[in-house]
Amino acid sequence: MDFELKSLSLAQADKLATDALVVLVPDTPALSSEAASALLELTQGVLKQGDLEQGVAKALMCYRPAGVKATRVVLVRAGDGSPSSVRKALLSATALVKTAGLKKMVVFLGLLESETAAIRSVMLACADATYVYTATKPTAKARTLTKVTIGVMDVAAAKGEFNMGQAALSGVEFAKEWANRPGNHATPTMLADAARQLGRKPGIKTEVLGLKEVKALGMGAFMAVAQGSAEPLRFIVMHYTGAAKTSAPVVLVGKGVTFDTGGISIKPAGEMDEMKYDMGGAASVLGTFAALAELKPAINVVGIIPSCENMPDGLAIKPGDVVTSMSGQTIEILNTDAEGRLILCDALTYAARFKPRCVIDIATLTGACVVALGAVRSGLFSANDDLADALAAAGERSQDLCWRMPLDDEYSEGLKSNFADMGNVAGRAGGAITAAKFLQKFTGTLNWAHLDNAGTAWKSGAAKGATGRPVPLLLQFLADQASQTAAAPRKSVSKRKPGTSVAVKATRKSAAR
Ligand code: BES
Ligand code: MN
Ligand code: ZN
Repeated sequence: MDFELKSLSLAQADKLATDALVVLVPDTPALSSEAASALLELTQGVLKQGDLEQGVAKALMCYRPAGVKATRVVLVRAGDGSPSSVRKALLSATALVKTAGLKKMVVFLGLLESETAAIRSVMLACADATYVYTATKPTAKARTLTKVTIGVMDVAAAKGEFNMGQAALSGVEFAKEWANRPGNHATPTMLADAARQLGRKPGIKTEVLGLKEVKALGMGAFMAVAQGSAEPLRFIVMHYTGAAKTSAPVVLVGKGVTFDTGGISIKPAGEMDEMKYDMGGAASVLGTFAALAELKPAINVVGIIPSCENMPDGLAIKPGDVVTSMSGQTIEILNTDAEGRLILCDALTYAARFKPRCVIDIATLTGACVVALGAVRSGLFSANDDLADALAAAGERSQDLCWRMPLDDEYSEGLKSNFADMGNVAGRAGGAITAAKFLQKFTGTLNWAHLDNAGTAWKSGAAKGATGRPVPLLLQFLADQASQTAAAPRKSVSKRKPGTSVAVKATRKSAAR
């Protein structure tokens, strides 16, 4: 999808020849004392007559209104003009324009108090409303609306947000595409190839390890999950270098289970197809790298993706089996369906070698997180208040929300085992938290956070499909980190002890929260 930013006053908007001109109408339009404009008259007339229903996203399409050159004007309520209202408004306006089969539209933001704050939401919502999955359905009608011009009063002020929107968009679409692909079209090998493709972009390097290397590293937990599948495992390591080599990276770890049957602890048949998105964490890491290549922030990022299938088989792990993780800790596999934590724990151990400023893992880890938070917010877990706050803030800023969950030590009681250092599951209660407690046992002194996107990476129901979350959150976090590092005095960066953070202080390590 092609977006363009254009300087547009009300008077210019009147004269703009386009198939559809979408005007965002906030509760209190920011009206300057501008000269008479037909578009403004139309808007005010419609509001006065009550033709545009109250309520965010309510829209009215006017055909060939007098004095306006555009063939159609779509007036859409944008409430308080906040990013979330703007998003809803654009989803509804785009649906109208899409129905008419139009190829181009212009979105006019000049009536909003803050145009800049709206831009990213406009772009992501347009893309979302028009995305069509075609990889294994070539007969699907491809996206018709392909060109969107965003008209703002002040282009210079809007440029930064526009670039951010563009990058976020590429990342989200990349992540969606891979998470939507069925298991046989998104195997670990194929994911690795996608990562290699990204490795051709400037600033990105990709390395892929296979069974031999993973075995040499001693990743017993990861290998245990993969051993039940005929598909070979892949361990993908990506590097984005945007800052000096000496600058400690942020490490992103994404769960890449390309299909989760549950293994010998097999899942019920209903909706098992959806377990193709169990690489939603991996997809979000790949998507973030695609976005980084475009945004080019001054920061170093390492992406780690352990990828395999979780299958029942003659060679598959059995409940009760004990494996040795790369950290040396032994694990009793009480439930083979709790496989995500088994592949992630070795990836977390591996992450330490990069002496990262922080490590964030992203995983469709638990059904319990879906029960707790639904599809609105991802679960956020971290013992570090600064890191948790920074991630939560990035979520708000990018409208890709998360919610912090507790990590009290009492939650790890249930992980005790008589036959190994730990079991891989605790009871049903607090399942999203006990999973995070399991991961925490492999983080040592790392400044670590975990995002459970089981509920947010996928939409069920008629609009079934991947969402690309939490790419916007991750990109915002990385951009924030880059600008904070740039703002920090150079000395403090070079004097920093490896493994501790610059902008995110690795201090307050409270067990609870
Ligand atoms: N991939 C699932 C979690 C999941 C569930 C993701 C629903 C998306 C939607 C994970 O591997 C899993 O099966 N977790 C188990 C853990 C349990 C065995 C402790 C679960 O949530 O049931
Ligand atoms: Mn599972
Ligand atoms: Zn899983």
